[in-house]
Amino acid sequence: MVSAIVLAAGSGQRMGADLNKVYLELAGRPLLVYALEAFQEHPLVDEVILVYRLGDEELLTRVLAAGSFSKVRKKVPGGDQRMDSVVRGLNAADPLSQWVLIHDAARPLVSQTLISRCLEATMRYGAACPVLPVKDTISRSCEQEMLGESLDRSTLRAMQTPQGFHRPTYEAILEKTRLERRVFTDDSSLFHWAGRPVKLFEGASETLKVTTPEDLCLCEFFLLQRQGGKGPQRACFAP
Ligand code: CTP
Ligand code: MG
Repeated sequence: MVSAIVLAAGSGQRMGADLNKVYLELAGRPLLVYALEAFQEHPLVDEVILVYRLGDEELLTRVLAAGSFSKVRKKVPGGDQRMDSVVRGLNAADPLSQWVLIHDAARPLVSQTLISRCLEATMRYGAACPVLPVKDTISRSCEQEMLGESLDRSTLRAMQTPQGFHRPTYEAILEKTRLERRVFTDDSSLFHWAGRPVKLFEGASETLKVTTPEDLCLCEFFLLQRQGGKGPQRACFAP
């Protein structure tokens, strides 16, 4: 059995809107609807656990009423940190669920192909994460914004979601982490810290995380592309 945990319990501070960014409009529909629909549609996903922010109940009810989300079996309030929200989602998943996909609701454009690839790699390796190569050079900033070490770009990857895990292993690791009182910002990093292999597979540009207002425009562009629209690839000069 497969459970998808959709995380929507953040506050979207970097977006600067007056409501949680997952309820902002993307091409006329709330952002949260897109990820829910993707997991609802996937034939191998049995249930969706929706982790929401306390205080967002009214918005959430409106979102769920606007579609048909029969797989959303449970709605649970999240915690202060993303990892707290993950734990609450995991606790709510069906006891028979062996595999979990953890997804940021702030990544609305998750395709059926990406979910399938994630599940395939997860079931084979025990844990899997979609990644993209990094385009910019990444460097550390030292005291007073002076340039520090520059990292080798060829080995760097930007992590995306959904990230998939063997649920019993994840729960055992979380128990260990609780005792060690360590904080992780990402599920795969936690797995890696526990000495478990995490398979990286190719992510998708369209699965970007909506963080600041311009990301919404980028998503609208990708939605247009999905509908067969042309990208901005116009030649300036005749060949
Ligand atoms: N999230 C969550 N619980 C938290 C924090 C984040 O469920 N305590 C979710 C967010 O709703 C989002 C995803 O985790 O879908 C990724 O987090 P991020 O992009 O950082 O979203 P926010 O924390 O909402 O944004 P910000 O950091 O700008 O406040
Ligand atoms: Mg955050």
